[in-house]
Amino acid sequence: MNSNDLQTLAQLLKESRHLAILTGAGISAESGLPTFRDPLTGLWANFRPEDLATPEAFQRNPEFVWQWYVDRRKMANHVRPNPGHHMIAWLADRIPKLTLITQNVDGLHQAAGSPEVIELHGNIHRSKCFLYGHPIEVELVDENSIKPPECPECGSLARPDVVWFGETLPEKELTEAVSAACSADLFLVIGTSGVVNPAASLSLTARNLGATVAVINPDPGAAIRGSLFLKGNSGKILPELAAETWGIDPSLFMK
Ligand code: OAD
Repeated sequence: MNSNDLQTLAQLLKESRHLAILTGAGISAESGLPTFRDPLTGLWANFRPEDLATPEAFQRNPEFVWQWYVDRRKMANHVRPNPGHHMIAWLADRIPKLTLITQNVDGLHQAAGSPEVIELHGNIHRSKCFLYGHPIEVELVDENSIKPPECPECGSLARPDVVWFGETLPEKELTEAVSAACSADLFLVIGTSGVVNPAASLSLTARNLGATVAVINPDPGAAIRGSLFLKGNSGKILPELAAETWGIDPSLFMK
C-alpha cells in the first residue's frame, strides 16, 4: 500500500462531515467467510448461482436451496467480526455522520456493534415466506431439518430473507443508500468486486456529485478510476487508518 494514500485518506477522514461506507464479502474474508468471486474459494467458483440464488432455483428444488443457506447461516454463526468490522463500528462515534451500507448478509457489522447498517441484500439469519414475504419466526426454523418450514399465515415455504438474482432490492434500504451516496463527502468502498448493481453504482453517484471515493481491496482490479486506492486486506488497513488518523493503537481492534 502507498503510505501517501493512507495519509491522504486519514486527512479526508478527519475533515469528513458525512462518510458513506459500502462493504462487500471481502470485509468478512478475514473472519473466515468465503467471498463470491475468488477464483478458487469463492462461492460462485464452486456453485452455480442459477442453481441456488434465484426464485426459479427455489421453486425447482426448495430443499437443496434451503439446505445451502442453512449451511451458510451456520458458518456465519460460527465466525466473529474481525478488526475491519470493529474499526468501522468504532468510527461511528468519530465522524459527524456515518452511513454504513453493506451487500453482506452475514450480520457481522451488527455483531461488531455498528449501530445502523443498511443491508442492501438482506440478512441470512432471517427467513420469510416464498409467496408473500411474511416474516418467519426464527423459532420455527429447525436447522437440522433439510425441509424449509411452512409459513403459519399462508402455508407457503420459508426461504432466506436475502436478495436473489432477478429480484429487486428492498426499497427503503436502496433509497437510504442512494440518499447517502448523494450527500456524502467521502465514500469508502471496502472488499467488493463492484460488479453487482445497483450497489456498485453508488460510488459513481457519489463521485459524480463531488465526493472523494476511496477503495480498500487486495485486488488492484477493484480500483475505481479517479479514486484513492489502498491495496491490501481491510482487517489490516482499517486499523492502520485509525492509527494514522487519530493516533490510536491499531491493536485496539483485535478482539
Ligand atoms: P465478491 O466476491 O464479488 O468480491 C469480493 C472482493 O473482496 C474482491 O474484490 C476481493 O479482492 C476482495 N477481498 C478479498 N479479501 C479481502 C480482504 N481481506 N479485505 C478486503 N477485500 C478483500 O463479493 P461482493 O462484491 O460482495 O449478491 O459481491 C457482490 C454480490 O454478489 C454479493 O452481495 C452477492 C453476490 O452475488 C447477492 O447474493 C445478491
